[in-house]
Amino acid sequence: MDIHELQKIVHKTRDSRRTQTLPKYSPAERDTLIKKYHPDHRESAYRPIKFGANAGELTVRELAALLEGESPVPDDLDLTPAHTVDVLVIGGGGAGCAAALHAYAQGAKVLLATKLRLGDSNTVMAQGGIQVAITNEDSPIQHFLDTLKGGHMKNDHELLKVMVEEGPSVAKWLLDLGVLFDRDSDGNLHVKKGGGSSKPRLLTCSDYTGLEIMRVLKDEVLNQKIQLLEFSAAVELLSDRGGACTGAVLRDLDNKRLVVVAAKTVILATGGIGRLHIQGFPTSNHYGATGDGLAMAYRMGAKLLQVDTFQYHPTGAAYPEQLIGALVTEGIRSEGGHLVNARGERFVNELDTRDVVSSSIIRECEEGRGIRTMTGRTGVWLDTPLLDVEQGPGTVEKHFPAMVRQYKRYGIDITKDPVLTYPTLHYQNGGVQIDVNGKSGVRNLFVAGETSGGLHGRNRLMGNSLLDLMVFGRRSGTTAAAQAKSIPQGELTLEHVKRFRADARAHGVSGGITSPMLFPAYAKKE
Ligand code: FUM
Repeated sequence: MDIHELQKIVHKTRDSRRTQTLPKYSPAERDTLIKKYHPDHRESAYRPIKFGANAGELTVRELAALLEGESPVPDDLDLTPAHTVDVLVIGGGGAGCAAALHAYAQGAKVLLATKLRLGDSNTVMAQGGIQVAITNEDSPIQHFLDTLKGGHMKNDHELLKVMVEEGPSVAKWLLDLGVLFDRDSDGNLHVKKGGGSSKPRLLTCSDYTGLEIMRVLKDEVLNQKIQLLEFSAAVELLSDRGGACTGAVLRDLDNKRLVVVAAKTVILATGGIGRLHIQGFPTSNHYGATGDGLAMAYRMGAKLLQVDTFQYHPTGAAYPEQLIGALVTEGIRSEGGHLVNARGERFVNELDTRDVVSSSIIRECEEGRGIRTMTGRTGVWLDTPLLDVEQGPGTVEKHFPAMVRQYKRYGIDITKDPVLTYPTLHYQNGGVQIDVNGKSGVRNLFVAGETSGGLHGRNRLMGNSLLDLMVFGRRSGTTAAAQAKSIPQGELTLEHVKRFRADARAHGVSGGITSPMLFPAYAKKE
């Protein structure tokens, strides 16, 4: 059936849905739902990691192959450095820029190297906001408890305490730099409520919060004249003979040459993993999100945490084909948007935690209550016009201008018609183990942002990622700069790569992929 025909049920049932009672799950029922439908619980998608710091632990096959992958750098590479700095920051998204700015503010000589252009990252694509407990009705303690509950109590308490406590000072830093957060009619900062949160605490810039934050951070990196290498992808770290990190090897994507950087401290801020398309899922992530930092840190011997859990954002676009997997912000559900199945019914509290909402959508589709497109995809409706019906014409356009434009390009008016959605691979819950200052288990190697793990437990709440980037970008930048002052530049060797290769051989691993991959598998064909 034509998509417009299928949409009619959403308009027809709008009134009756207002009085519909939604399922209320006990903790045990939530657990059962997640175990039955959430992609994290598909056993066949997992296998044990064969060697290294996480040997024997289960992760998805795509990540296991990446971690066990072959280094692209030959053992006999000439390690004469082209650059020598105090702090090398790898990654030009939110965490990388924050780290570079704070390290630079400490007087360190900083080099920021990034695979694509400065700002190309998941940060720039973040829509819904940044969580900060700033209102009188709210508190960092409440923020802590919400996040812990959302993360199934598996969050690192120390990291979480630091994040929620430092939220207000991060917001001030961003405001001072010039971020234009939304304000109410009195000029006060306006806060919205996200899924799984007990209080409104999202600071937003319409539905392009990440773009606005990145605009300001990018400007600041350029204004401070921090040394910048764009289109320079890190492909390997360097170590001294004691295993401490001493720099990195970059690939200049323009001329394909390898560039050696000597650094007293290195901060990995390479972001997420969505472009590995785990379990065949589409993704909301940017083109370079291929888990590069995880692969490089793992070869250095860093321990990873919670590599068996990923976030599938409930509402990725499921139609039209050009937008498959693109994020449809949780903000629409926060404003009251209903999720609706093929029968015209709501089936979940739209502001439950993401794992519960995604599992419910997958259940609806697997049990035949999803909507099938002409290309064979299934999804459920997100009733976007409802916002204009309930809050007055112009509401959708005012709060979600980027989303309106995104769909308009394909002839879809989301102020008039609902959009079809299905879970999309959005975030890696785990990552490299760090302490409160971003230090990994490898000496002189720091990690910030999505590449790090432990903070969010098994399910991240909306808006906590942008806060994570700013808090741990700042802490890792400041600490890495301070540490660089007190140590000499270490020897540059590839000893850890040699050890890793020997380990791979001993475990019969050969002929796998080269990692980091840098770009998704289909990039070469394109
Ligand atoms: O739905 C969203 O806008 C996503 C936000 C987030 O993942 O923090």
